Amino acid sequence: MCGIIGYVSSGIDAENESTTAADGGTGDGRALPVLAEGLRNLEYRGYDSAGVALVEDDDLSVFKQAGVIDDLDLPDDHPATSGVGHTRWSTHGKPTDANAHPHTDCSGDIAVVHNGIIENYDDLRAELDDHEFTSETDTEVVPHLLEEELAARRRRASDGGQVGANADDVTPDGATADDATVADDQIGGVDLVEAVEAVVDRLSGSYAVAVTIAGREEVVVARQDSPLVLGVGEDANFVASDVTAFVEHTRDVVYLEDGDVARVTAGGVDVRSDGEYVERETKTVDWEAEAAEKGGYDHYMLKEIHEQPGALRQTLSGRIDEVGGDVDLELDLPESFLANVDEIQVVACGTSYHAGLYARRLLESFADVRVTVEVASEYEFQGGRDPWETLVVAVTQSGETADTLSAMRKAAKAGARTLAVTNTVGSTAAREADDALYIRAGPEIGVAATKTFAAQVTALSLFTVHVGRRRGTLTSERAGRLLENLRGLPGAVQQLLDASDRLEAVATEYVDEDAYFFVGRQLGSAVALEGALKLKEIAYVHAEGFPSGELKHGTLALVTENTPVLTVLTEGARPGETLNNVKEVESRGAPVIGFSSYDAAANYLDVEIPIPDLGVLEPLVANVGLQLFAYHVANELGRAIDKPRNLAKSVTVE
Ligand code: F6R
Repeated sequence: MCGIIGYVSSGIDAENESTTAADGGTGDGRALPVLAEGLRNLEYRGYDSAGVALVEDDDLSVFKQAGVIDDLDLPDDHPATSGVGHTRWSTHGKPTDANAHPHTDCSGDIAVVHNGIIENYDDLRAELDDHEFTSETDTEVVPHLLEEELAARRRRASDGGQVGANADDVTPDGATADDATVADDQIGGVDLVEAVEAVVDRLSGSYAVAVTIAGREEVVVARQDSPLVLGVGEDANFVASDVTAFVEHTRDVVYLEDGDVARVTAGGVDVRSDGEYVERETKTVDWEAEAAEKGGYDHYMLKEIHEQPGALRQTLSGRIDEVGGDVDLELDLPESFLANVDEIQVVACGTSYHAGLYARRLLESFADVRVTVEVASEYEFQGGRDPWETLVVAVTQSGETADTLSAMRKAAKAGARTLAVTNTVGSTAAREADDALYIRAGPEIGVAATKTFAAQVTALSLFTVHVGRRRGTLTSERAGRLLENLRGLPGAVQQLLDASDRLEAVATEYVDEDAYFFVGRQLGSAVALEGALKLKEIAYVHAEGFPSGELKHGTLALVTENTPVLTVLTEGARPGETLNNVKEVESRGAPVIGFSSYDAAANYLDVEIPIPDLGVLEPLVANVGLQLFAYHVANELGRAIDKPRNLAKSVTVE
């Protein structure tokens, strides 16, 4: 997830106070302060590098570097009245100055910012072998493709409208397409919107792109599976990943749809779809800036719970090989090592530990490999293992958890190979591990991990296929079924989110109880632990999660009519045996809230939340229901949900 912004004004009007941001106007016409402020407002979407491109007549100036926006070295003042900006959350390429956006073409006249993942960038980059690339990003193919496209269009225009020009064609002035500059292109009167349409037609994956070009007072944008919203002002117009970026200037917005390409000028915004101009409704948002940052939700946690379908699509994007029943995770771990690996040891803390527990079952069942999962602060590289045939997987959202880093270092010291499964490109875990698998969930602001848990399990499911296929223990048919379930996951999660009101009502009904128990088996017990942790940390109530078979070995003594039992009755969670345990608590008067795809359970449940069919991923979908339950209980109790007492997002002490 990254944040992008674009701005075009009609000119500088320093005298006119009523157009300043402070007065709720659209600025005094200078692009730089509006872009910089917009990026600060978007920083929650990513903060590992930032940059802006400013257009002043025929000059395009780019300022970009690694680090947060406040570290960006910007001029004190700049006369440009249009430009684009970007704050990055790395997915391809480390957070370096070179990888920061905007990216430019060979001439330096075209600047592009992008949010999303361009899945076919390798192929496109290979095609552009005569272009000079300066970054490792997927994004950089876009300005170079556009450079080609504009040159070809300019040639066709000067050839009197002939179609079919290619890069080697010679223009009337004797230059090749590669020599053609964008400044020349102005003379040809080429339409930038049409050129952008042609370029985005060639991209697969997800993108929100904004393009600006030297000599043009316009920003052209395109959207596919990544958010973009236009802001309609009086003397200036805007575009951004969300309204947060410009809500202090205008509340009149146009939400773009997938496939839309739009031109933003000082005079207005035009939207096209399928090559035709279309009308998109202008809406007025009534959020304050802070609410806008939370997308209209009361808390980041709730926003992040609702972001899960999009986050999971990003986790999966470009990694599934449908035909071969395999995955492409761009891992450097040698295939021969994985084929013979003797044991996988997962080390992690808190929610990430629960993701590890989920992954253990998948790896054991699908990849037929021995797996242990250990709380990182307890880990030692124990005897009886051959370090050369052991893989230690550190699961850590932040990549900075001290306990997890310490466990990873112990493993590396013993001679084991290490893999970091993390959300944070360039984090200590990613840098120190032998290899990294990114979960691509985007920044998570709420202290309680939600979308990152789902993305961790999803990434580890892909890893399961990777290992199983390399070991020869997983057939392409069985891998194909798991991959099909993974493809269905975002939609299934959305179904649970659509039942959010119901879960709010359930939470309201059971808000004032003595304690809460969360039970399930196998994959269901990993989720039970996670459900209990969420409730404890944000609602400050007593909650315990454990395998349901353990109830009768002690905890049953605590079960009363004031201790709701939340249970996972789905595939992958041995629902038949779990139901026996449900009957034990039900007969002692405890209310039972079941997240269920198991029809036989219905008669024993006080509340049934249906879980769609999704094989071994059903418990992961049930977890979304547990997140919503925890959130609404905490909200009823008036807790500080995004910043629960005594807790921190990243725990950098052992
Ligand atoms: C719970 C939570 C924590 C983290 C734990 C590990 O909601 O967020 O339990 O999961 O501190 O953090 P990472 O994954 O960053 O290593």
